[in-house]
Amino acid sequence: KTRTSPLPTESEGQRSKSRLAMAPPATPLPFLVLLATLLAAAPLLPPAAAAEPEAFDVRRHLSTVTRYDVSRASNSVVSAPAISDECRVIHLNLVARHGTRAPTKKRIKELDRLAVRLGTLVDEAKQGPDTASLKKIPSWMKGWESRWKGRVKGGELVSEGEEELFNFANRVKERFQDLFDEEYHPDVYSIRATQVPRASASAVAFGLGLLSGKGKLGAGNNRAFSVLSESRASDICLRFFDSCKTYKDYRKRKEPDVDKQKEPILEHVTSALVSRYHLKFTTQDVSSLWFLCKQEASLLNITNQACQLFNEDEVHLLEWTDDLEGFVLKGYGESINYKMGLPLLKDVVQSMEEAIIAKEENFPDGTYEKARLRFAHAETLVPFTCLLGLFLEGSDFEKIQREEPLDLPPMPPQRRNWKGALVAPFASNNMLALYQCPGNDGKKTSQDQKNSYFVQVLHNEAPVSMPGCGNKDLCPFEEFKV
Ligand SMILES: *[C@@H]1O[C@H](CO)[C@@H](O)[C@H](O)[C@H]1NC(C)=O
Repeated sequence: KTRTSPLPTESEGQRSKSRLAMAPPATPLPFLVLLATLLAAAPLLPPAAAAEPEAFDVRRHLSTVTRYDVSRASNSVVSAPAISDECRVIHLNLVARHGTRAPTKKRIKELDRLAVRLGTLVDEAKQGPDTASLKKIPSWMKGWESRWKGRVKGGELVSEGEEELFNFANRVKERFQDLFDEEYHPDVYSIRATQVPRASASAVAFGLGLLSGKGKLGAGNNRAFSVLSESRASDICLRFFDSCKTYKDYRKRKEPDVDKQKEPILEHVTSALVSRYHLKFTTQDVSSLWFLCKQEASLLNITNQACQLFNEDEVHLLEWTDDLEGFVLKGYGESINYKMGLPLLKDVVQSMEEAIIAKEENFPDGTYEKARLRFAHAETLVPFTCLLGLFLEGSDFEKIQREEPLDLPPMPPQRRNWKGALVAPFASNNMLALYQCPGNDGKKTSQDQKNSYFVQVLHNEAPVSMPGCGNKDLCPFEEFKV
């Protein structure tokens, strides 16, 4: 029997729970389904429909400032993994980035400086001889003030960010019903966050979604749960970027190079803006205006002010400069970026090994962990995503294995896989679901196990195949471990 929905747990809980009923693994049907239509009964769409270009929306091109729901809706093509009806999910690992946050203190100051600069530029234009060009100045720019003016604190999780994590938790609970039907215990459902408020608040928002209705507190029947953090300085699983000196040195050394690589784009866009608006923008102004565009579009849903200054091609180019920076300083650009994430991967594998032992030895419920849920940063999620080998181009995986350097993400209009908006938007996440399948097909499984175990990787809730595992959707645990 073949299913047509790639995410059978959505709105069909009673039928499949966290088991996925599917065709036998030997029939790899390419399912092309628009994620956005999933909730509407998830019809099977012909490839043509999925490939149809959509209207340009700047909100999809904000690199790592992109909102989670926007990113999920842009990620239109998913393949449905074939998981036997008899397999059950027994453990879940989650590594998530915090949700949408306010600009940091440093960025708030940058916007304050921008307000002063824009005032000066407008005044200059008014005093200039060319009165006709005054009409070219966008009206919002006259007397513009930053929305965050006077704020001395920043970087906190905002309510949109809370919602992202809360809603995400509700989908996780629905998708993996069998995993979360047990009574809460901090050792069964381990929730961890870094010692940074937006990350721990994200853990709390997630926990509220996961456990609402399961306790006795207030009208929402909430229950208290614990969020544990390692000390900032020694958190080698979630803040390795902060404790790895080699990385910090690399980053410091590399940042000027990245700026140099971005410069031609900024200069190109700056001269376009200068001639379009007859204002004497500097590249620093344009850099700040692009930052403002991202904040307005992401946090305030305003796209007709700063974002409107740029045309579509310019947005693509500016987005690419952000993605380039992420690639070089956090991603595949240099192996130190992701090798320092190995303790996290080890922690993931170890949690799976423990879950397998618990199953093989028939431990009673409540005595072993079912989920390890971690809330951290883009600097955590991106390296972890790289360790899983996601978002690589054609032969990149082989290059990494041979320790050869990768090419930079190609500049638009060429297409690329590495997009911050897809790799690491706010609340982006990787889930690794461990499945137990009965070993009753005559094949001997390793180490005298009665069952066989498979890992499924989901990036932003979409199942992905693993380049490190022969591009399988379901990776045998023994292979995943290597
Ligand atoms: C954002 O603005 C668009 C119009 O540009 C509107 O359709 C959409 O509903 C808004 N979204 C939110 C979350 O307010």
